[in-house]
Amino acid sequence: MNIASEWMLLFLAFFIPLQLPSLLASTDTGYISIDCGAEEAYTDSDSNIWYQTDSGFVETGKNHKLPSGYSFDQPQMSKQLNTLRSFPDGVRNCYTLTPKQGKNNKYLVRAFFAYRNYDLKHTPPSFDVYLGVNHWNTIEFGDLYMYFPIEVTHFALSDTISVCLVNIGKGVPFISSLELWLLTDSTYRTSSSFPLDILTRSTFSMSEDTLFVRFEDDVYDRVWFNRIVGNSKKISTSATIDSYGIENTNKLPSQVLKTAIQSLSLNSSLEIYFNNHTDSSHVYYINLYFFEFDQRVTTQKRIVDVTFNDKSILTDPFTTQHLKLVTIVQNITQADHLRISIKATPESDLPAMINAFEVYRVLSLTNSATYQEDADTILKIKHIYGIPIINWQGDPCIPNHFAWEELTCSSDGTPRIISLNLSSRGLTGPIDVSFSRFSELQSLDLSYNKLTGEVPEFLAQLSNLKFLLERNPGLCLARSCKTKKNLVPLIASIAASVAVLVMIVLTFLMIRRIKKKNGVSKKDWQEKSDKYVFSLRDVNRITNNFKTKIGKGGFGEVYLGTMQDGRDVAVKLLSQTSRQGDREFHSEVNLLTIVHHKNLVSFVGYCDEGDVKALIYEYMDQGNLQGLLSGRNPNVLKWSERLQIAVDVALGM
Ligand SMILES: *[C@@H]1O[C@H](CO)[C@@H](O)[C@H](O)[C@H]1NC(C)=O
Repeated sequence: MNIASEWMLLFLAFFIPLQLPSLLASTDTGYISIDCGAEEAYTDSDSNIWYQTDSGFVETGKNHKLPSGYSFDQPQMSKQLNTLRSFPDGVRNCYTLTPKQGKNNKYLVRAFFAYRNYDLKHTPPSFDVYLGVNHWNTIEFGDLYMYFPIEVTHFALSDTISVCLVNIGKGVPFISSLELWLLTDSTYRTSSSFPLDILTRSTFSMSEDTLFVRFEDDVYDRVWFNRIVGNSKKISTSATIDSYGIENTNKLPSQVLKTAIQSLSLNSSLEIYFNNHTDSSHVYYINLYFFEFDQRVTTQKRIVDVTFNDKSILTDPFTTQHLKLVTIVQNITQADHLRISIKATPESDLPAMINAFEVYRVLSLTNSATYQEDADTILKIKHIYGIPIINWQGDPCIPNHFAWEELTCSSDGTPRIISLNLSSRGLTGPIDVSFSRFSELQSLDLSYNKLTGEVPEFLAQLSNLKFLLERNPGLCLARSCKTKKNLVPLIASIAASVAVLVMIVLTFLMIRRIKKKNGVSKKDWQEKSDKYVFSLRDVNRITNNFKTKIGKGGFGEVYLGTMQDGRDVAVKLLSQTSRQGDREFHSEVNLLTIVHHKNLVSFVGYCDEGDVKALIYEYMDQGNLQGLLSGRNPNVLKWSERLQIAVDVALGM
């Protein structure tokens, strides 16, 4: 990694801190600076930047300090680099940044990495860094001492930005510092909003004691590497340059504007080599900066021509103007090396010059993040229930191989969460309304938890949702939680087939409950139960005009029927003398369309036409429970099985 070696050079050079104006660490400046591994927050005495600890940004990892003999004692940055946070557990560990300016803003995200033998293993790791769901960089260290930043511009489409460290089987990932700065819209603007990953940021002739520009001279605390170019002469101005008072979209610091290199003669050129390997999968850009501070241009001309790898890139050479910044942005194609050649034209009175340049590559956004509302909702649920699953970090669905195990996602287009299994996760408290915000959820398993309170109505509004709530002893069915105590004696009324038996219990429960309360308004239940509605003609056809009677329950007569798809069903006809009235019928329908439980026979639909009220259930063909309990039956149930049935019935209730 060549950029790494450049950065290393930077740090190998001796430098003295730049004197910085004192600055209030305002909360409105739009930055987040995290000194990873730090035990407490502090204001950096060199930069006046407020550094926070990891807490609140990442939930996993371990803090470390660089060992003596490896730690930094240079004033600038040392404090941030002397601690780090490692991630020995899990494949993907993520920091979540939530800048208060939120989405639809452009940010600069920068991370520093300094291994420096923190684990005393003398083996620097290699790992991947993701920006959200997309690969950003692969971190590699040439030696124990190397350290460097990576930096990217990022247009945020959501309010949170995650930076994830991914273990690729080559050692434990870690990070030394992580920063985020709010950029203005015009800064680093290209034709697309794709992230720009900075490979090199160079200036040429800052004096030895200002090798290093930081906040607030650089408003984004960018690091400008001092590059040495042969056959050149350093030039600078002592005049005060107001970097805000000129057109300066990329906000070059005044330190960078005030220094430049110039070619040794009118007809010699400045040659800048850049050896970072480019590859065909990325688009690369170069920014060249020319700021004319030479008074002589008021009477003489400086006309500059630039070529890249011997190809002229400007239609015309340009003439510099006093105290004006010229920025040339050029995209380049794949090349093993890059040579920038800057030359004065024959008409020029003054030699060629340049102040600074940057090379960056455009990251391709190959993955699209999970549908925002789904991602927000699962995070909310994680927080509400305090779900301690280590891999619940970063995007829930993307990349596929990091998708959270407890859920499944749709695979075409924007990923959607389609199933969620939180069985046996020790969830407590009520079923939160957030679950209703998963609009594409098809399956929700909350069984074997300690959920309490009512089973909420909203679950029924998710029309495609199948959900499992069994083994949550504290849960009760809507509207009935207060009357729970009355239910137990009803188990005694078990009769007929297993299926019918359970239904009867439920039916009786409903009577008890509803006597004390208002039923569901008719409108309510009609809206959500439409797919369960059958006409009288349907029922006649299904039962072959009520041809085969298979039983009689508290509700009325039960008939055998066959659906169009061949499924056998049991159709229960509400008898005119049944104690259940209209309202109870609707309540039962309402309940059955909401409640799905493996111990309850599944509800197929209902008919409510004129005087005819019928309920249609899946048909259980194993005969009735009485038969199975009787000693005359060759397959008579064992005691353990009988006990299990009693337990299952109770659970169904
Ligand atoms: C949920 O996960 C458990 C195991 O953790 C499994 O037994 C159960 O069948 C799963 N539920 C669904 C609906 O797949």
